[in-house]
Amino acid sequence: MLAGKRVLLIVGGGIAAFKAVDVIRGLRAQGASVTPVLTKAGSEFVTPLTLSVLAGSKVYQDLFDLTEEIEMGHIELSRSADLVVVTPATADLLGKMANGLANDLASTLLMATDKPVLVAPAMNVRMWEHPATQRNVKLLKSDGVLFCGPVEGSMACGEFGFGRMSEPDEIIAAIGAALSEGPLKGKHVLVTSGPTHEPIDPVRYIANRSSGQQGSAIAAALVALGAHVTFVTGPADAPPPQGVTLVKVETAAEMKTAVEAALPADAAVFAAAVADWRVASASGSKIKKEAGKLPTLEFAENPDILKTVSHMSEGRPRLVVGFAAETDDVIANATAKRARKGCDWIVANDVSPATGIMGGSENAVTLITEHGSETWERMGKAEVAERLARKIAAALG
Ligand code: CTP
Repeated sequence: MLAGKRVLLIVGGGIAAFKAVDVIRGLRAQGASVTPVLTKAGSEFVTPLTLSVLAGSKVYQDLFDLTEEIEMGHIELSRSADLVVVTPATADLLGKMANGLANDLASTLLMATDKPVLVAPAMNVRMWEHPATQRNVKLLKSDGVLFCGPVEGSMACGEFGFGRMSEPDEIIAAIGAALSEGPLKGKHVLVTSGPTHEPIDPVRYIANRSSGQQGSAIAAALVALGAHVTFVTGPADAPPPQGVTLVKVETAAEMKTAVEAALPADAAVFAAAVADWRVASASGSKIKKEAGKLPTLEFAENPDILKTVSHMSEGRPRLVVGFAAETDDVIANATAKRARKGCDWIVANDVSPATGIMGGSENAVTLITEHGSETWERMGKAEVAERLARKIAAALG
């Protein structure tokens, strides 16, 4: 699948460096060639010999090594690959990249390259959440740097949260997507998916029946066509697809923040079933049952993410696609919804319980665009996704 592709793999200094070994192995198994670059800090965690043997290649370490410079200058090295991958990308490396520092071989290669760069961050949760790191991540994303993870999980330091590096198979899938030659190569598409959970108190929430299957299938189909996909998902049953930049959220407000942080994008597909309302003042502690008394919940309206993005005066994705899950007058309601939301396309479907679509594996949709509507025969959600992804590719040209 990656036959003939050349990856320059920078191994940074973090405990997750050991996972780089499996990334190299996986890439080579798929036919890619890998040239490792090991930072000084990285060499505290894995040895150059390990990387060299697994990659079947020389390992580059030093900016000022005369022999290396004569064999292959650092500028040439930075361009001799199809993709530059940083795994693990430490807070320090991200900071250097975002600020244009080049004081060692890895950071110099990252400045000098004319090839796409994909980073797999790994750091302590506090370091990941630090405003400086988040500023750097935002800058790098707007520079077009591709991200794989980090994911939520337990860390070597004993803490739990975001900052754990993605697993090697996910990094390999992201590399595959970045190197894909499909029609969406070089395009960034944002996909929202799943339900949102709106808290009543710390143990109760309001949700809906969305499984996230259609959203996951759309993201997978877009990745298969070569897009870089940012997948913002609520707590869905369906597993997220591989090869995406995954952002997990709970509430509509969090989803809106994540969507805004992920822009700019060439296209955005809003497949999430966002809760229209949240509990106005969710309780910070568990609401206790009191004999003879029923709690009263007051609601507040959630932000409309699709409408907000559709009406952006600056940085609006070229193509904005909304969904309309209806139970009555599907086409009339969805046509009105397209106008109300200001999106370009609406994918309408009938989610009446009798159709078995909500939570089921099939979908029957009508695509409504400025040119009118077309109804597709009932088919698997993966097929709906593939057809929609092809249409998106054609629209983005
Ligand atoms: N949507 C959104 N943010 C919201 C609500 C909905 O982004 N707060 C998006 C959904 O992802 C979907 C589209 O808007 O793409 C339509 O969602 P839907 O719930 O059908 O729209 P509503 O405006 O809530 O209309 P209804 O009165 O039918 O619930």
